[in-house]
Amino acid sequence: MGKMISFALNGNKMAVEVKDHWTLLHLLREELGLLGTKEGCGSGECGACTVIVDGMAVNSCLFPGLEIAEKDVVTIEGLTSPDGTLHPLQKSFVENGGIQCGYCTPGMIMSAKALLDESPNATEEEIKHSLAGNICRCTGYVQIIDSIKSISEGGVEEVHVVAWKNKEKDE
Ligand code: FES
Ligand code: FES
Repeated sequence: MGKMISFALNGNKMAVEVKDHWTLLHLLREELGLLGTKEGCGSGECGACTVIVDGMAVNSCLFPGLEIAEKDVVTIEGLTSPDGTLHPLQKSFVENGGIQCGYCTPGMIMSAKALLDESPNATEEEIKHSLAGNICRCTGYVQIIDSIKSISEGGVEEVHVVAWKNKEKDE
């Protein structure tokens, strides 16, 4: 059984048929071809699949696809501008060594973005708390936390942008 639903994906409204048993991760990767969101454990343990739904960071591997009806979904693809300019968080991860193999990175960045949208000057403790569900097997977390702190301590305005495409529409 499937159902037609409407939602906004990275600022673009769309209508898609979603099967009852699809997760949001399946919809994004397998049906819509957005491969930036990663599948790690598939059971809510690693955070690799984190995306933002109506401002909240969620594990898309557990999130029912049908539940995004009429909601705003932002994935890692929504953070890069159409001309390829990286979002300040993405740049910061590159500059601060927050990326090694990169498998955890989209999920880390989406968790960080949800935090900073809510709390732009988040403290180190708040950053650590927000990343509690995101596992990295490479970096030891220090560089990841530094990457986020350099934004929360620097007050970069663009970090509040939900998605670049939305920003362009507002201008
Ligand atoms: S793949 Fe979703 S939490 Fe690990
Ligand atoms: S950079 Fe490899 S898992 Fe985090």
